[in-house]
Amino acid sequence: MKKGKFITFEGIDGAGKSSHIAGVTEFVRARGLTVVSTREPGGTPLGEKLRELLLHESMHLETEAMLMFAARREHLAQLIEPALARGEWVICDRFSDATYAYQGGGRGLDKEKFAQLEQWVHGHLQPDLTLLFDLPLAVARERIAAQSRDLDRFEQERADFHERVRRAYLERAAAAPQRIQVINADQALEDIKKLVEMTVVTHCF
Ligand code: TMP
Repeated sequence: MKKGKFITFEGIDGAGKSSHIAGVTEFVRARGLTVVSTREPGGTPLGEKLRELLLHESMHLETEAMLMFAARREHLAQLIEPALARGEWVICDRFSDATYAYQGGGRGLDKEKFAQLEQWVHGHLQPDLTLLFDLPLAVARERIAAQSRDLDRFEQERADFHERVRRAYLERAAAAPQRIQVINADQALEDIKKLVEMTVVTHCF
């Protein structure tokens, strides 16, 4: 069924993936392809309501994990799968690797449970390519501190939480080195941009 390419972006908060998502979307569009740029949690009207709760409402940690997958189920059904079936490319800001990293690494929940949920929700579909933006925590924290806005529940977590998230991401990358490409996000914007574009060309065209 799937005809288009599915690319996801991951990384700790403050890794700076947003501007590169916009850049890659334009880069792929400029090659004449139709691209849907979306995000998780979110991407659908229901998903965006769940995002609001997930980012700002305190809840049981397992509720948080299951709501991430519930929002993902809706996202796949309403947006991701239909777009891929039409031959469009989908570029998604975070996907299931984020649940393994944040709810598994950060919160310490049992990753086996996510494997079951993942199988249920998208056992038949994995991203063609995942770009993991990696950088030292201190640099990411500085970037977040420079933004004058209210922080969400995850951004407010302590440094050790974010260290565990980073470590869990890197473990996932080591376990799936073909799909997950680690991007050194602690370098000049222009260098990251080139690296991201080159990685997309190598893996997806
Ligand atoms: P964003 O700020 O990159 O849009 O992501 C929203 C937050 O949600 C971010 O701090 C990571 C978190 N998150 C999880 O904890 N688990 C998930 O499965 C996803 C998709 C996001």
